Parts: sequence; C-alpha cells; structure tokens
Amino acid sequence: MSTATDSNAAAGLRGVIAAQSKIGDVDGEKGVLIYEGYNIHDLAENSTFEEVIYLLWNGKLPTASELAGFIDKLRANYGPAPEVIAMMKQFPKDAQPMDVLRTAVSSLDFYDADGHGTDREAAMDAAIKMTAQIGSLVAAWERIRNGKDVVEPDTSLGIADNFLYMLRGEKAPADEARMFDIALILHADHELNASTFTTRVVAGTLAGMYGAVTAGIAALAGPLHGGANTNVMKMLISIGDLDKVEAWVDKALEEKRKIMGIGHAVYKTEDPRATWLRKFSKQMGEKKGEMKWFEMSQAIEKMMHDKKGMYPNVDFYSASTYYLMDIPLDLFTPIFAVSRIAGWTGHILEQYANNKLIRPRAEYVGPRDLKYVPVAER
Ligand code: COA
Repeated sequence: MSTATDSNAAAGLRGVIAAQSKIGDVDGEKGVLIYEGYNIHDLAENSTFEEVIYLLWNGKLPTASELAGFIDKLRANYGPAPEVIAMMKQFPKDAQPMDVLRTAVSSLDFYDADGHGTDREAAMDAAIKMTAQIGSLVAAWERIRNGKDVVEPDTSLGIADNFLYMLRGEKAPADEARMFDIALILHADHELNASTFTTRVVAGTLAGMYGAVTAGIAALAGPLHGGANTNVMKMLISIGDLDKVEAWVDKALEEKRKIMGIGHAVYKTEDPRATWLRKFSKQMGEKKGEMKWFEMSQAIEKMMHDKKGMYPNVDFYSASTYYLMDIPLDLFTPIFAVSRIAGWTGHILEQYANNKLIRPRAEYVGPRDLKYVPVAER
C-alpha cells in the first residue's frame, strides 16, 4: 500500500484506500467485480438496470413491490424540464455531447426545489430525477443537433429501452434493448474510479447532488477514463482493415502510444465486463453481417496480450457494440454516464450518510525560504 510519503508511488493514488464503501469492489488480480456482494456476472445474467440501481442505492435487491414502486418513480421522471430542452436548443449544434450533458445536468438543479438537500430523502429524490432524465437528455441532444423533434419518453419502457426509443424515434428490437440493458448494468459502478472519486470529493463538502454529478460528468469525459470508448472506435476506423492491424499496433507500440481500451489501473487480468462486451460485439457483428470490427478488436487484443501482457477493459468491445447499434461515436461516453450515474449517486448517498470532508495533503517538493524580489528588480 502506498502512502503520501512514498513520493512517486503515490502518483495517481494507486492502491491508496481513500474511502470505505459497501457499494462495490474490484479484485484486480482475480478479475472479479461485485456490486453490494453480488458478482457482476450474476447480475448481468439475471438482473435489470433498474434493479441494479435500487441495489446500489439501498444495499439490497428489491422485493417485487419495492421494484414496481421504484420503476414507477423513475418512469414518472423520464421527461426533463421543458426549460432545459429549450436551453439545449440554443447550444451550438457542434457542441460536444459530454459538454452538453454536463451543462444540462447542472441546470436540472434549478428545477428541483430541494436540489441542495443532503439528507437522504432530498438526495434520493435528486438521484431519482437525474438517473431517470440523463438518458432523455443524451437522446434529446442527438435529435436537437440534427434538427429533429425531441421524442417524448415512453413511460411503458425501461431506461435502456426508452433511451434507444428516444434516440431513434422507434422501438428497439428486444435483443438490442436487452443487450443495452446489460451494458448499463456493467457500467453502473466501479468503486473509486476517477469520476466516482470526484463525486465523493464534491459531496464531501456537503455541496448538492446535482453539483457532485456534474463534476463526475466532467471527469468521465477525459480520454483516460470514459472518453476511451469513443477513441477505440476512432482507432478501429482509422486502422481500417484486419490486415492492417499488426503493422498499426507495432508502430503505435514503437512510438510509445497507448492503445485505447487496453489496460487498467486496477485489473491485471481480464476485466469481467469485457467478457460480456466481447460477446455483444460478436453478436452485433453477426446480426449486422459486419464482422470486421470484432475481428480487428480480437486481433488487437491478442497482440496486446502477447506483446505486453495487457487485457481489454470495459471500453474496448463496447465501442464496436455501440457502433453496430448505429449509435454515433460521440455518444458512447454520454451513454457511459447514463449508466454510471447509478454508481455516482449511490456513492454520494453513502458519502452524505457518513460524511467527512475529503482533504488530503500534498507532499511539497518546491523550494522554501525564497525572498520576494520586486518586479522591477527581476
Ligand atoms: N497501450 C499501450 N501501453 C500501455 C497501455 C495501452 N493502452 N496502457 C498502459 N500501457 C503501458 C504504459 O505505456 C506503461 O509502460 P512503461 O512502463 O513502459 O512506461 C505501462 O503500461 C503502465 O502504464 P500506466 O499508464 O502507468 O498504467 P496505469 O495503470 O496508470 O494506466 C490506464 C491505466 C487505463 C490509464 C492505461 O492503461 C491507459 O491509458 N489505457 C488506455 C486508455 C483507456 O482505455 N482508458 C479506459 C480505462 S477503463
């Protein structure tokens, strides 16, 4: 375990325990991810995104009636405030969707009378509103920037299904909707990743839930975090063909460039989420009769394993899966937020429930005892 005095060992806070949490755990050596004690494979196989949200916020799986009541509350909140949609219509059409999402989610605060409340009831209410609306905002932006009418949410549909419906203006095939639902389950929480840590730092000041989630979105946007999924697809497109993979990867490694979607700060073996997404990428390739993206991804995966002993992370195969679902590249990271909001809000609730301001120290490595020199004498 590194400590702040280990100098460079503390860079990136690798291995530093910065919070106690009951929400989830990552065993990077064994490649095991759990939410509230349940293995991710069990949840992906058997659960739904809504049930997982309930689990992350309440620490237990819901009974049938608890789940029904919870789903009703979420669905009643699918539609964002019309003022927010009106504001989004004023944004430049080429604005990046993560920037749009960050701004739109931040503005939801204006329309929640108790948006700054940090007691469980107020915070839970804000969590429900944001989690229900975030997908609607992403889908609305896709429609707005393309000059199309925003699709009204369908409250008979689950979050995954409704998102695809609002994005496309037509109901998704059942197999795609379920695949997308599982993708949301897989991305929902990942312990103290950069964006979740950010939300806890903000919540630790007792700032409101909307501000904490807005900060999480800002952190997720970076290419070393959630932004990697878009970059994986850009990389596959720029490589172009299976027979170009080998030379491309060799050159990238020679130039010490990072291959997007490969490697992880915690996993030293297969990321269990990648196991599912690899399957989905193949499934979508077969469905669309376009196996090239899956085959290229597999070839990159094999090379990176053989040459560097590295494995794909969650972003590697989600890229080709979403691409084959006809989702625009720059929505991949906003979709990550549509799911990760479940974990962010769960962590914020946990932080509020047992709060202590997060305020670490920096190891000062600069000079001391310098004497001020007036500007004219420098
Ligand atoms: N491609 C090629 N080499 C990589 C690599 C990648 N994707 N990821 C790490 N490495 C190499 C580094 O170059 C470094 O090599 P060196 O020791 O010879 O300098 C070594 O592995 C350690 O890299 P480092 O960045 O310090 O590891 P980390 O544990 O801090 O990095 C990530 C974790 C995720 C930031 C890193 O693997 C990465 O940038 N991956 C690509 C971006 C990505 O997919 N992010 C999504 C994460 S879910």
